[in-house]
Amino acid sequence: MLEIKNLSFSAENEGKTVDIINDISLKFDDNKFIVITGPNGGGKSTIAKLIAGIENVTGGNIIFDGTDITNMNITERARLGIGFAFQQPVRFKGLTVFDLLNIAAGKSLSLSEGCEYLSEVGLCAKDYIKREVNASLSGGELKRIEIATILARNVKLAIFDEPEAGIDLWSFNNLIRIFEKMQSSDSNRTIIVISHQERILNIADEIIVLADGKIIKQGTKEKILPEIIGTQYASDLCKKLS
Ligand SMILES: Nc1ncnc2c1ncn2[C@@H]1O[C@H](COP(=O)(O)OP(=O)(O)O)[C@@H](O)[C@H]1O
Ligand SMILES: [Mg+2]
Repeated sequence: MLEIKNLSFSAENEGKTVDIINDISLKFDDNKFIVITGPNGGGKSTIAKLIAGIENVTGGNIIFDGTDITNMNITERARLGIGFAFQQPVRFKGLTVFDLLNIAAGKSLSLSEGCEYLSEVGLCAKDYIKREVNASLSGGELKRIEIATILARNVKLAIFDEPEAGIDLWSFNNLIRIFEKMQSSDSNRTIIVISHQERILNIADEIIVLADGKIIKQGTKEKILPEIIGTQYASDLCKKLS
């Protein structure tokens, strides 16, 4: 279980201190699919970065399976089983897709195991497995490769920041299928997805709406979804894929 207690984050912006996350407390139970949504600039990506250890908190604590991880770095958190997929995926020079999957898995995978992960994310494995992870890959391809690395890692807590961004409809359907599969397995895995997509909101066990660094709504999908669909900011929240 992941617990965040009185989490705050402020940053310097043009000489002024701005509060980006304001005293947020949340519990994320095991085996849950949680979607965080809300208007742009609300602090969603910041929360994800604080959980993964990419940014350091200004106040509060982060507890993961009983261990206080507030002062741990990204690598230490990753070792405990926290995996993060970036909104803007990182490119690794000189590394092949297969290398990346091996690093993620923490062991030598057979070629066919590697290919299986790529097939899972809708990439034709033989075209990608030996490719270098560099600028020749599109944003959408990188995103799928990142999701494949999260599958390979079999992490306990998987965080996805707007995985729908920049992917085509076919891959999006595939992504939904992967999420449903991850959710239905009894792996004790917690999945946190930051998303505006109605179809992703629709598979959530729990929805959290974040605005101005605060939680403005929180509850089951059954409770929250009707409250946010068809409201004033629904058009912001639920961008349809065209
Ligand atoms: N390191 C930082 N320094 C200054 N401002 C930041 C920093 N990180 C985020 N922000 C600001 O905090 C707000 C929330 O950002 P973000 O978490 O990316 O929002 P969201 O993902 O919900 O769109 C934005 O206004 C953003 O510009
Ligand atoms: Mg964001």
